[in-house]
Amino acid sequence: MTPKISFRNVSKSFTLKGGDFLALDRVDLDIADREFVTVVGPSGCGKSTLMSMAAGLVEPGTGQILLDGTPVAGPGPDRGVIFQQYALFPWLTVRKNVEFGLKLQPISPQERRRRAEHAIDLVGLTDFADALPKTLSGGMKQRCAIARAYAVGPQVLLMDEPFGALDALTRVQLQDQLLDTWSRERRTVMFITHDVDEAVYLANRVVVMAARPGRVHRVIDVDLPYPRTEEVRLSPEFARIRNEVWHSVYHQAAAA
Ligand SMILES: Nc1ncnc2c1ncn2[C@@H]1O[C@H](COP(=O)(O)OP(=O)(O)O)[C@@H](O)[C@H]1O
Ligand SMILES: [Mg+2]
Repeated sequence: MTPKISFRNVSKSFTLKGGDFLALDRVDLDIADREFVTVVGPSGCGKSTLMSMAAGLVEPGTGQILLDGTPVAGPGPDRGVIFQQYALFPWLTVRKNVEFGLKLQPISPQERRRRAEHAIDLVGLTDFADALPKTLSGGMKQRCAIARAYAVGPQVLLMDEPFGALDALTRVQLQDQLLDTWSRERRTVMFITHDVDEAVYLANRVVVMAARPGRVHRVIDVDLPYPRTEEVRLSPEFARIRNEVWHSVYHQAAAA
């Protein structure tokens, strides 16, 4: 079966004062349809660059990024992108923020409203649909950003440390909510994090990257059942996989 997203021998250099700097070196990675893949690795190993290339925001230097077998030529409604910063319009309500993402779609205002409501419901913000962002907690703002991405109906969600700015408890709640949403409306997810627990808890597979140059170091399967629960999080198998990921991130960071 054709992978949903395919990185084929992708390299990327940036020009710095002293010359060229190799940020990504020959990355090969396939992400299957409906897979939940997390990406971890030391700061500066090229995680955001890799994701931005899948989003069509950054071009690869050499190599190819394929979406359903077709080269990515730019951003598109088939991919929803969520960054650590919530990037909501402060003067618009939750509902209007979510509807905004649908403005470019050829649908009626009624249909726009219906889709926005469904997405808001999925992330559990129905009671706050008419609230302005400044009245919401960080976690709620991020849920609003997720709803906005979802409303467009993308087949792929690209998430770059989306929960990085949140406190530990909110983070765990949003992880569970994201998995709940994903189990109901399966999308392909590429989720970047620097939190090893988060990487293992969410994923079917964890991609561990290495730095200087940025590259795929290891890919670790997470053979844990969904739904992921507190019981799964506390299981010996979870601890085993978590340690494996941690070692693989830590040892190569220590070696650098
Ligand atoms: N537009 C750019 N110009 C120059 N260097 C960049 C640019 N974008 C990223 N880099 C460099 O490429 C490397 C990888 O960056 P990034 O993808 O943001 O890493 P990560 O997300 O893993 O922390 C870093 O050393 C960063 O400084
Ligand atoms: Mg980054």
